[in-house]
Amino acid sequence: MSKRALITGITGQDGSYLAEHLIAQGYQVWGLIRGQANPRKLRISRLASDVTFIDGDLMDQASLVAAVDAVQPDEVYNLGAISFVPMSWQQSELVTEVNAMGVLRMLEAIRMVSGLDKSRGGGGGGGIRFYQASSSEMFGKVTETPQRETTIFHPRSPYGAAKAYGHFITRNYRESFGMYAVSGMLFNHESPRRGAEFVTRKISLAVAQIKLGLQDKLFLGNLDAVRDWGFAGDYVRAMHLMLQQDEPSDYVVGTGRIHSVRDAVRIAFECVDLDWEDYVAIDPTLVRPAEVETLCADSTRARTQLGWEPAVDFRELMAMMVESDLSQASRERDYGDLLSATSW
Ligand code: NAP
Ligand code: GDD
Repeated sequence: MSKRALITGITGQDGSYLAEHLIAQGYQVWGLIRGQANPRKLRISRLASDVTFIDGDLMDQASLVAAVDAVQPDEVYNLGAISFVPMSWQQSELVTEVNAMGVLRMLEAIRMVSGLDKSRGGGGGGGIRFYQASSSEMFGKVTETPQRETTIFHPRSPYGAAKAYGHFITRNYRESFGMYAVSGMLFNHESPRRGAEFVTRKISLAVAQIKLGLQDKLFLGNLDAVRDWGFAGDYVRAMHLMLQQDEPSDYVVGTGRIHSVRDAVRIAFECVDLDWEDYVAIDPTLVRPAEVETLCADSTRARTQLGWEPAVDFRELMAMMVESDLSQASRERDYGDLLSATSW
């Protein structure tokens, strides 16, 4: 019989790639969808028509219990979050509610539906396996390079602090109730489906618009920030693998290769034969109150124990994103496409 997976954050970048991957593996996939007439539902239906939607919100405990009870999943992937770091300074409480308390609520939903008794602990763990979308942002002001599973956390944003809570509460439910609950400590991963507010997509969209004469300048913040950027389609394979092991464990997932924002801009402009220095300007308001200067993954455990390897390198990734935005923007220019250039 095919396995059943419930994905929160189904309308996001990772939710879409994970749904496609699981469906290709023969899973039945449910996606938790929040709000009334969520416009992003249509995007997922277009990409993965086999996904079944179920209502729920990480802010609402009862809705999560009802969703888990209705789906009776073998695996739950908790990808839902407010994922844009700057928003976590503007709406710190909301981000903490969704990104930290939301994890606790999802774990509680699984515990309740599995009938695990809080007063006893230990437990058989129940049958539902849980994946939490942890983040390299937890390493923040890094204490060692590259970062691995044992590297100390020093979050630099309310987002990072909330993710650290989600990480530890996931481990705590594993240790307290014997749940198969794991965290993937994923480094930045991008794609043509990345939100337009994140730096790589902001760059690829601008490069496309500039090439077509639709935009003059690209305003950015800190060009010196360094990230370990990979392709989202590669990273969802790691999520799935983490739930297929004999023993639950947390894994760092990244490429181990680093680039600065300046490198990203240069490479993206090179894709369309333009010199980035003619177009990029700094907007100091885009510089963050506390920056994560550099992140670099040591994914040795994921490579050796999960057999995971990334397939797309950074240059290919930027080229893929620029190409996609170029074809979308030219369609929009030529045919007045009803879809905006940021949609997929
Ligand atoms: P994304 O594109 O921003 O998607 C976020 C998803 O969370 C959306 O589907 C959104 O749904 C959903 N969501 C927001 N608030 C919710 C709520 N209250 N209840 C239920 N769902 C809610 O993010 P992503 O890039 O796919 O990332 C997936 C996860 O991995 C996130 O948890 C993120 O923090 C984490 N992560 C991402 C990266 C990365 O580089 N991409 C790296 C490390 C960790 P709506 O359509 O309803 O808004
Ligand atoms: N977004 C953005 N916009 N970032 C800029 C800009 C700009 O105009 N200019 C410079 N940057 C720098 C940021 O200061 C940051 O150092 C870097 O580019 C990457 O920013 P984002 O793409 O917004 O991603 P992030 O690293 O803050 O967070 C992403 O990765 C995390 C994993 O490390 C998100 O996907 C998080 O949800 C994820 O957990």
